[in-house]
Amino acid sequence: MPAKLNVVLSVGPRRADGFHDLATLFHAVSLYDTVDAAPADELSVTMQGPYGAHVGVDRNNLAVRAARALAAHAGVSPAARLSVRKDIPVAAGLAGGSADAAGVLLACDALWQLGLPGDELAAIAATLGSDVPFALTGGSAVGTGRGDILRAVPAAAMHWVLAVADGGLSTPEVYRRLDALREDDPEDSVAPPDVGAGALAALAAGDAEALGRVLHNDLQDAALELRPELRRALRAGDALGLVGSIVSGSGPTVAFLARDAAHAAEAAAGLGVLEVCADAVAATGPARTEISARAT
Ligand code: C5P
Repeated sequence: MPAKLNVVLSVGPRRADGFHDLATLFHAVSLYDTVDAAPADELSVTMQGPYGAHVGVDRNNLAVRAARALAAHAGVSPAARLSVRKDIPVAAGLAGGSADAAGVLLACDALWQLGLPGDELAAIAATLGSDVPFALTGGSAVGTGRGDILRAVPAAAMHWVLAVADGGLSTPEVYRRLDALREDDPEDSVAPPDVGAGALAALAAGDAEALGRVLHNDLQDAALELRPELRRALRAGDALGLVGSIVSGSGPTVAFLARDAAHAAEAAAGLGVLEVCADAVAATGPARTEISARAT
């Protein structure tokens, strides 16, 4: 299950239900969590991998909630031994938790032989989180509504470097900070969210330099207020000749766009030397969700 970036994240005003209408260009990248569902008499979940210890496995765990939501929808018992290998950093703005939830929906749909159509899985996914429907498929898509209404879009390969920060950021807190920033500046009326034609054209054409110029995230200033040290990471991209930089989703991961795969690998090493982040990894998009049958 791939991580995601928001190449463009345009946030409208806060709605009555507390969410914000969005227009976002989702782009899945090749950094994966792996979800496995095995037969069992009851529901259990274990988390492994580099970031496994960062996630609690109580009732609120998104993987557990996904299994329960699917079982309730299908009228079956939520019996499965779930294991999640977490290579996607937690609370990083990369939708790792959403990837796990989507992975559980797909794995349990197969384990329990439900064969639910994609639109039913997407409807359950939307009850679990705004990014979970996109995580079911990956690729590249425009998301509207809360981010849960999707339209797949053409995308050529893009090469990124992800600068992973120490510690996470709370998505609700970043949205609250955005609302506060906007209240402080009432003159600055909030425009309806829009992805913009430029980003769609550049992504479809594989024009990294053009895409780099139009990367945009309305949550970026709010994330930078909460984590000012990210400014240093953002600036480091210029020194390495990267063609664009952006805070990913609600942060704190910073994503840089490279000219090609070799440039991304070189820049990942360069960011490590500059010590502006805890870890730097190269990743390629658009990445797809991959499903395989259990060997046993
Ligand atoms: O849907 P998800 O659980 O990812 O959302 C986490 C939080 O992010 C929400 O509780 C809300 O505060 C904020 N959010 C928002 N508008 C969106 C998506 C998320 O305000 N479209």
